[in-house]
Amino acid sequence: MPAFPVTRLRRLRRTESLRDLVRETRVTVNDLIYPIFVEEEIDTPVPIASMPGVSRIPERDLEREVEAIARDGIKALLVFGVSHHKDASGSDACRPDGLVARMVRAAKRAAPDLVVIPDICFCEYTDHGHCGVIEHGHVDNDATIENLARQAIVAADAGADIIAPSAMMDGQVAAIRAGLDGAGHGEIPIMAYSTKFASAFYGPFRAASGCDLKGDRKTYQMDPMNGREALLESALDEAEGADMLMVKPGLPYLDVLARLRDRTSLPIAVYQVSGEYAMIKLAAAAGAINERAIVRETLGAFKRAGADLIFSYFARDIAREGW
Ligand code: PBG
Repeated sequence: MPAFPVTRLRRLRRTESLRDLVRETRVTVNDLIYPIFVEEEIDTPVPIASMPGVSRIPERDLEREVEAIARDGIKALLVFGVSHHKDASGSDACRPDGLVARMVRAAKRAAPDLVVIPDICFCEYTDHGHCGVIEHGHVDNDATIENLARQAIVAADAGADIIAPSAMMDGQVAAIRAGLDGAGHGEIPIMAYSTKFASAFYGPFRAASGCDLKGDRKTYQMDPMNGREALLESALDEAEGADMLMVKPGLPYLDVLARLRDRTSLPIAVYQVSGEYAMIKLAAAAGAINERAIVRETLGAFKRAGADLIFSYFARDIAREGW
């Protein structure tokens, strides 16, 4: 390429229309997945203080709320349950009439075309708050993946469109794939939370989901300092049969996302998590940044770095306001 003054990159930046013409990355509502929290046995929505604009939806309002979300233009929904029936193994999540199954059925009844994705994990259903069953003071990997497969089957029986396991157990994708196939759900895809870090950015989620965790998840979620290991996690999930991969959190892990993009041909999702949402909301409320612009810049950065899909609590704003 000839140097300046023959080459002037500013030529293509002169007008809005020229910039529109050469823009490399676009985000549409088709790329976005909107996470919601659904609480059983409550009558009114419970606002989450650390996530302004996000509330736990009462289970009894779920159908009405999902209809409104679909009317706004959202195409895909991630559902988290806030359980009042917790025990040591999180058994409610595996019951055909438990909260996971009821949420999926209600969401599909309200909007049959909406892609309904249950988060397949146990932390919202265990009384200790860990993502699986505890044996001798540790989360037992092999017992937990059997339970994850059970939960996945229950969710698929209820009508889930995608199964998204987030427990970070070894072998969870293979166990769930075998379970789904054995139960006649060979056509249901798995979106693996393949690269999930033990991140402080999940802070506000813990309040939002009513999780009672004492301690941390460092024996199963990844060390935030490990990039190569993140690629291994994703490669293993791909080998176990994952249909889609995920990087989570988003903004602090764009390097992982970009490296993974170069290694896989599967669709990659990225999760702009609760702490990322809170930072933007609270900084905007303090007048430090322009929320509308920052939301678009961050979502665009995810796609530029290689994401196909984006989980974001801002998804509904984008659906309503347009880009
Ligand atoms: C459940 C789960 C978590 C998130 C999604 N699924 C919490 C955690 O792993 O501690 C975090 C989402 C967010 O922070 O927005 N395992």
